[in-house]
Amino acid sequence: MVDEDVEGARAFLHSGDAYDRFMGRYSRRLAPVFAEAASLSRGADVIDVGCGPGALTAELVDRVGAEHVRAVDPSAPFVAACAARHPAVDVRLGSAEHLPFDDESADAVLAQLVLHFVTDPDAVAAEFLRVLRPGGVAAASAWDSREGMQMLRAFSDAARTFDPDAPDEAIMLRLGGEGEIADLWRRAGFVDVEETTLRVTSDYTSFDELWAGFLEGIGPAGAYCIGLDERGRAALRDALFLRLGSPEGAFTLEALARSASGRRPL
Ligand SMILES: C[S@@+](CC[C@H](N)C(=O)[O-])C[C@H]1O[C@@H](n2cnc3c(N)ncnc32)[C@H](O)[C@@H]1O
Repeated sequence: MVDEDVEGARAFLHSGDAYDRFMGRYSRRLAPVFAEAASLSRGADVIDVGCGPGALTAELVDRVGAEHVRAVDPSAPFVAACAARHPAVDVRLGSAEHLPFDDESADAVLAQLVLHFVTDPDAVAAEFLRVLRPGGVAAASAWDSREGMQMLRAFSDAARTFDPDAPDEAIMLRLGGEGEIADLWRRAGFVDVEETTLRVTSDYTSFDELWAGFLEGIGPAGAYCIGLDERGRAALRDALFLRLGSPEGAFTLEALARSASGRRPL
């Protein structure tokens, strides 16, 4: 399989460092609180689905040991970045819909900020069930852009002030609403389903630092941004600056994620 085959990967064919400047700055902070949901013990076999350049992978390596971590992503540059950062981890090119792993081979399967982009979430939940051992845990997290992912919310609101057809992250970023991931796990047959709300922040030294992240072209927002002509981009920059209260100097943005875990029945 080549990465272009997976629709959700198309906006993620970038370097790991570029991703970090845009989204990794949040996902690195989300990983430790999200990983709590899976109650991992040292030596448990875990899979990081949609690993990107490896923000959650790093946390999983710390918790269970590199030889117990496997990771998969449909973006070839992210797979390369994750493998370079975590040489002892088995990192594969593949999708959540068709995990390249054996039945009943994992104690936990985690997906951080990935369900937004998968084409068939129910098929993904069925795949998680397949690779988990009885009693194993599936956990996923997703930004709630309707309520509290300030960076994406402000970007969409700004873009839509002058372009009603601009992508609305609240619509595009599926499965971030309260109870949505929990419902997905229940539909798939998971038990002991628990949901939590996670909050992280990111600090910016200036508005230019934030804007440079969008210019990397990553994800639906970044792709939209670099698809505009120069005038459009300037107008969007001004609108976003206003939305964020015209920050002069350093500022901090908050991000709220929904996380839910479920257990494969024994
Ligand atoms: C916002 S990034 C999250 C990356 C990483 N988990 C993190 O927390 O930084 C979304 C990731 O989902 C991956 N992705 C998109 N569609 C996917 C699919 N169908 N199956 C697995 N991963 C997918 C992208 O390639 C990208 O790495």
